[in-house]
Amino acid sequence: MKTGTLSTRHLIAIKDLSENDLDLILQTADQFLEVLYRPVRKVPSLRDLTIANLFFENSTRTRLSFELAEKRLSADVVNFSSSGSSVSKGETLSDTVRNILAMKIDMLVVRHAHAGTCRYLADRVDARIINAGDGAHEHPTQALLDAFTIRQKMGRLRGVKVLMVGDVLHSRVAMSNLFCLRKLGAEVRVTGPATLLPPHLEDMGFPVMQRLDEALEWCDVANVLRIQHERQAIRYLPSLREYALYFGINKARLQKLSHPLVIMHPGPINRGVELQSDVADGPHSVILQQVENGVAVRMAVLYLLADQIRNPIS
Ligand code: NCD
Repeated sequence: MKTGTLSTRHLIAIKDLSENDLDLILQTADQFLEVLYRPVRKVPSLRDLTIANLFFENSTRTRLSFELAEKRLSADVVNFSSSGSSVSKGETLSDTVRNILAMKIDMLVVRHAHAGTCRYLADRVDARIINAGDGAHEHPTQALLDAFTIRQKMGRLRGVKVLMVGDVLHSRVAMSNLFCLRKLGAEVRVTGPATLLPPHLEDMGFPVMQRLDEALEWCDVANVLRIQHERQAIRYLPSLREYALYFGINKARLQKLSHPLVIMHPGPINRGVELQSDVADGPHSVILQQVENGVAVRMAVLYLLADQIRNPIS
């Protein structure tokens, strides 16, 4: 296994990681991907640790992917989801988490609808925290698995042109991707309806392209975002039909381009809105490869943070 140490005690945001940390995670994930292709897809690295997956918000891929990654590393795993728990009886977040930790838990994987939840917990409890998505803030392991997939497909990240398409304003996947890809040397631009783009993207160094067709012509990889209906208290779009017309990606649109694109999506897909099925299931889609890589990338993150529990940084 590649050796090296992360510079952080938790994985809360890509913003906290150095380029070295990102490289270390991706290289460690290469080795875990290889483990996943062995007849016995399991290693004993985390057999001394207990991990709790705390999901206060819905999830399919991320929750299963973390749980599988933990089990493939031989950790003991417990799962919590807020529906059916004492949260519905009015228990506070800190109380819920402290009670769970009293059962001797080493690491928490946390998803919550509120941005900042993971940082709040990291300041208050004595366990390593991994952010599995906090509100519209960050989703660092999704960005890492996206970067891993781009590198696998393109052979490199430096200089690769990546376009984030759609609801950037409400997307934690977009925020983490922008910072992660830039740190790894990719060129990142953004397109989407003006109402769904945060106002300071250009000041932050991420050029905005107005027209989808020009933006698609520019990029090597299009990472397509889901419209985050659950975070939209006001109506940002006239209709989904209009969104699909101007920013939805279909086969006809891709056939007009001078070169093929890699198509990514973090899931779940709104089929017929941001992506038509002829693209989502088409030859250039790497959506299921992203899911496969997610397990290896999460194994890498868990393994590197576990290493820190045993050899704490000062
Ligand atoms: C994303 C999420 O929940 O942030 N999904 C995921 O983790 N794969 C993206 C989304 O919900 O659109």
